[in-house]
Amino acid sequence: MNDMPNGSVTITLEGTNKSIRAPLVQATVGPPVADIRKLYSDLGIFTFDPGFGMTAACESKITYIDGDQGILLYRGYPIEQLAESSDFIEVSYLLLHGELPTAAQLEEFKKGVTMHTMVHEQIRRFYDGFRRDAHPMAVLCGVVGALSAFYHDTLDITDERQREIAAFRLIAKVPTLAAMAYKYSIGQPFVYPRNDLSYAENFLYMLNAVPAEEYKVNPILAKAMDRILVLHADHEQNASTSTVRLAGSTGANPYACIAAGIAALWGPAHGGANEAVLKMLGEIGKPENIPAFISQVKDKNAHTKLMGFGHRVYKNFDPRAKIMKETCHEVLAELGIKDEPLLDMAMEMERIALSDDYFISRKLYPNVDFYSGIILKAMGIPTSMFTVLFAVARTVGWVSQWKEMIEDPSQRIGRPRQVYTGATSRDYREVAARG
Ligand code: SDX
Repeated sequence: MNDMPNGSVTITLEGTNKSIRAPLVQATVGPPVADIRKLYSDLGIFTFDPGFGMTAACESKITYIDGDQGILLYRGYPIEQLAESSDFIEVSYLLLHGELPTAAQLEEFKKGVTMHTMVHEQIRRFYDGFRRDAHPMAVLCGVVGALSAFYHDTLDITDERQREIAAFRLIAKVPTLAAMAYKYSIGQPFVYPRNDLSYAENFLYMLNAVPAEEYKVNPILAKAMDRILVLHADHEQNASTSTVRLAGSTGANPYACIAAGIAALWGPAHGGANEAVLKMLGEIGKPENIPAFISQVKDKNAHTKLMGFGHRVYKNFDPRAKIMKETCHEVLAELGIKDEPLLDMAMEMERIALSDDYFISRKLYPNVDFYSGIILKAMGIPTSMFTVLFAVARTVGWVSQWKEMIEDPSQRIGRPRQVYTGATSRDYREVAARG
């Protein structure tokens, strides 16, 4: 924990003379935190914060979000600048190492990733065990976890060099495994990665190439894919990253931790929302049906959410959604797609929602998932691969957060407490004695 205590909060147990001074630990930007680690020993109470909405689980230097201002910084650099001027491999270096690389560092890092893009040939056999119609996220979750069955030389998390190689392997192999999951689902042969392509180009190549003919990656799609990967790379302590940190806090190997993150990301409330947005827009069908859908969303008994809207942290526009929307227009224009009904419908949905008090009062704005699916569909990516793409991008964020946690000297196993409201101690009764 940084040694910048500055002030404190006093917590007093009413009706007693017991109180504690919880030191305030200042952030470099954003709210300070009250260090309440002595709360139980001094006052005999825990805090209660379901969903950890008000709890800082760790200290981190990687990503900062200001939800009220709609600000997102990777290692201090605004996401807008990185999306405009950087690329995914450089952003990966930045997230992992904390600084933008020199030209030499970037070249070496690129080579490190490129030399790890292939997977052990036997891993191909795992895919044969899945049904062809298995969801690619189910496949990815399984095969990433299985990497720990192959790479025994990088399972000692206390060894810095092994951590570094595991990081290269995960960042480099997840796109290969993801593309293999897609190829398997459509009955096409797996396509090996190529060392002469960029990260985004390679991913598109492995998704779309076939052995029967030369495949040239469309530079427009490669640039759009790279920007989408940058936008999804990290997002501080979201559900899947917290899952990776919790799994890693037990000493589990990095491949198992990232597989846990993939599982958590899959949920429709989290990374699965991009796929759910397309499904929602498809079910609504046409713009004239939007008002009826919005009424359904506002009806609590309908249990319907406007997918791609709302966020635990952003109570303003998700800056990624803004960039994604702009990219949407650019990609469609560059692809010569004059009118995309889904985009028209999404924009009309956004217009209606942002003028409706239900959404305004709850500060519900489009998040990163609202427009991403529309671009990906225009790029020819199948809906079932949207969350897989999110996982490909987020792997570097997960690995960076996992590395930061392992290297934090104050790190200890994560173990939340509870407030128990169940039965107090009682004696067992034989079945004959039960009412
Ligand atoms: C991601 O955490 C991250 O950083 C995640 C992420 C990342 O990069 O890792 O940004 C990626 O997961 C983005 C979010 C993608 N999910 C969706 O688009 C699914 C739809 N959104 C909701 O499920 C919801 O907004 C969450 C899960 C994103 C946030 O939920 P919270 O913070 O628990 O908010 P809440 O449920 O407390 O909502 C407050 C109110 C409630 O209404 P009331 O009970 O006050 O009447 O807002 C309502 C909610 O019902 N509400 C919505 C809504 N989201 C919240 N109502 C309609 N549609 C929605 N989408």
